[in-house]
Amino acid sequence: MNLLSAKNLSHTFDYELFKNISLELHAKESIAIIGVSGSGKSTLLHILSTLLAPDSGSVSLFGEDIAAMTNKRLSQIKRDALGLVFQSHYLFKGFSAYENLEVAAILSHQKIDNTLLEKLNIEKNINQKVTELSGGQQQRVSIARVLTKKPRIIFADEPTGNLDKQTANEVMSLFFEYCLTHDAGMILVTHDEELAHKCDKVYRLENKELVRIQ
Ligand SMILES: Nc1ncnc2c1ncn2[C@@H]1O[C@H](COP(=O)(O)OP(=O)(O)O)[C@@H](O)[C@H]1O
Ligand SMILES: [Mg+2]
Repeated sequence: MNLLSAKNLSHTFDYELFKNISLELHAKESIAIIGVSGSGKSTLLHILSTLLAPDSGSVSLFGEDIAAMTNKRLSQIKRDALGLVFQSHYLFKGFSAYENLEVAAILSHQKIDNTLLEKLNIEKNINQKVTELSGGQQQRVSIARVLTKKPRIIFADEPTGNLDKQTANEVMSLFFEYCLTHDAGMILVTHDEELAHKCDKVYRLENKELVRIQ
């Protein structure tokens, strides 16, 4: 099953970031994208995850071209099927951790999974306000929130940046397990080569091209 198909993507801000990039993501597959700072990794992830329209080229999700979707369809796919784990994790600050998960659960008609809270080691903090949590705890709450939606595709930009190595490994194992058990796929942007090589495929964004290195 093909979850995502990107064809001939090109994008320029102040300078041309990349051109003619194509990429496919299948169910149960994890893809890592590495590259030096400023090479355009986050921009590419924004394009793949519908947040930014490319200068040229196309992205299809579940066989549908994003550019041809109605706003309603696009919102529905974003809400139900895409899980975005970005570094600035937009938790609702005035709410508790649990309330943040409840919002995700209600919007996507899912249930909060208590084993997920245990695996992420946040069950003891779940009733605290977001502002009372450490950066690493907030990051784990935002990961719990994303997985609560039961997305078909996880887009993660340096998802373990705030976490110590052991916690980072546990979080990544959770993502890999999630993809296998939910027929989902993941596209991970990271500067951590060791982490990248745990994915099924690894690409490097370099000289405006996406080069497969694993
Ligand atoms: N919204 C934007 N407007 C203008 N320039 C941007 C924007 N987003 C990113 N850039 C520029 O594009 C380049 C690549 O950024 P980014 O995709 O964040 O790279 P990476 O994630 O690989 O570090 C940088 O020079 C950045 O300043
Ligand atoms: Mg980046």
